[in-house]
Amino acid sequence: MVKNKITPNTKALLINNPNNPSGAVYSENELKKIAEIADNHNIIIISDEIYEHFTYAENHFSIGSIYPNTITMNGFSKAYAMTGWRLGYMTGPEKIIETINNLIQYIVFSSNSISQVAALKALELDPSEMIKKYAEKRRYIIDELSDHYEINGAQGAYYFFLKVPPKYKDAYEFCQEASKNKLMILPGSAFSQNNSYFRISYGAPMKDVKRGVEILKKLA
Ligand SMILES: Cc1ncc(COP(=O)(O)O)c(C=O)c1O
Repeated sequence: MVKNKITPNTKALLINNPNNPSGAVYSENELKKIAEIADNHNIIIISDEIYEHFTYAENHFSIGSIYPNTITMNGFSKAYAMTGWRLGYMTGPEKIIETINNLIQYIVFSSNSISQVAALKALELDPSEMIKKYAEKRRYIIDELSDHYEINGAQGAYYFFLKVPPKYKDAYEFCQEASKNKLMILPGSAFSQNNSYFRISYGAPMKDVKRGVEILKKLA
């Protein structure tokens, strides 16, 4: 499928692994195949791995470890709960990073120093305890919703991408109904041209996830 999308104009291939909105995690095998395709066409891979710690079935595999022509992007927002601190980082081929560095210096100047000090402290922490709680929330959602919604993927990140029940016209209508019940979810159209899926996030504490699940059951 990836192969068919490549044209002579293709310069880069963007991967987000683990994925937002689907929660999908690409296997090492799949990533090796993607790297092979990129290599055959001399294409750069841009790999957003901000959810790298959030995998529940298999360990995270970074495509940059086998394909040097990869720009790997990451940040502190997710693993260290630092959303809003505006701190990320990237690695990649020296020449590209030098050019990006040049641009960043004159466009954004630098990350703010408060975030940098906080990030240094964050690196002393181990996110695995927090990830365990996410795994519990994920398991709870699968157990509770499997009878009501078809659940695929969601092996990583903290999202489920679920099909809108047939009694609703589209994801907008479903999300509006959810919102009337005080549940905030996103229609699939926020991520693709398709509007028959919706995304839920289980970033919230378990007690709120439980409330959300009850509402989703009611709406099914
Ligand atoms: C896939 C992905 N990449 C990057 C980000 C950026 O996070 P932030 O802007 O908080 O650093 C997000 C945030 O939701 C994300 O889902």
